[in-house]
Amino acid sequence: MAGSNTKQVTFHLRRFEPGKDAEPHWEDHSIEVTPGMTVLDGLWKVKELSAPSLAWRSSCRMGICGSCGMLINGRPRLACNTQVSELGSAIVAVAPLPNFDIIKDLVPDLRPIFETHREMLPYLLRDDTAEQEDPTREYRQTPHELEQYLQFSYCIKCGCCMAACPTVATDAQYAGPMPLGQAHRYDSDTRDAGFDRRREVLAGGSGPWRCHFAGECSQVCPKGVDPAKAIQLMKRQLVSDLLRLRRRTPPAAVAEAPHGTMRDDIPAAPPRTVTEA
Ligand code: SF4
Ligand code: SF4
Ligand code: FES
Repeated sequence: MAGSNTKQVTFHLRRFEPGKDAEPHWEDHSIEVTPGMTVLDGLWKVKELSAPSLAWRSSCRMGICGSCGMLINGRPRLACNTQVSELGSAIVAVAPLPNFDIIKDLVPDLRPIFETHREMLPYLLRDDTAEQEDPTREYRQTPHELEQYLQFSYCIKCGCCMAACPTVATDAQYAGPMPLGQAHRYDSDTRDAGFDRRREVLAGGSGPWRCHFAGECSQVCPKGVDPAKAIQLMKRQLVSDLLRLRRRTPPAAVAEAPHGTMRDDIPAAPPRTVTEA
């Protein structure tokens, strides 16, 4: 019998075991849910009580590693970041993220997005190899320059945006919001000088042009990243580059150094001091 603080909830789970099941099927497991319990906690309880072979992917349990993206009551979410109570339902339907092949049960095969992500060269590219190997000073940025990419750097590569994107669902060539958002994260960083190399990938069929900017990707992002915005900014950057407009002098108030150059007009941060408790 459930206690006063507990609630009986049915976990309606999509199961699939390759080599055994011809098709995925649904399975119901009833568990007691206590206040504060997450969907991930619920899956552990189901596994412990009635479905020992249930498979999913998780690690950090705190919304950081990006492993536990799942389709929960019809929306891509992080299982560890979603409390059962916030769903407002006695049924918790959990399926693997759409738009990916299924490895087993709730485990999607995320390899394609990581491969595409890698093609976008998602790291700072610079020509000053000697300076990088033997640094003589800091890479300084203004607060405005930092703002241009900061929110995109919060992406944890969970794949929720890819699962929500209707273009990814219908167009195998489209790179999708995660890899494109991350390409823009570096293209918009003044320390980076890799735009020309990324443009070779972005100007092709996998680039941003197939995005229709409905914004489902940004709506489901559990980290508040706005990949739809990144993609529209990327389109603008590519068009501006094509028209040679990106070489125009920016307004003095927010003057930015050409990408990849060292800044001498920003004072260095004061050295950090460590105080012992
Ligand atoms: S943009 Fe958001 S939803 Fe997409 S992979 Fe990054 S963190 Fe996940
Ligand atoms: S805004 Fe673009 S990337 Fe985001 S869901 Fe829509 S089509 Fe996909
Ligand atoms: S387990 Fe790491 S984000 Fe959920």
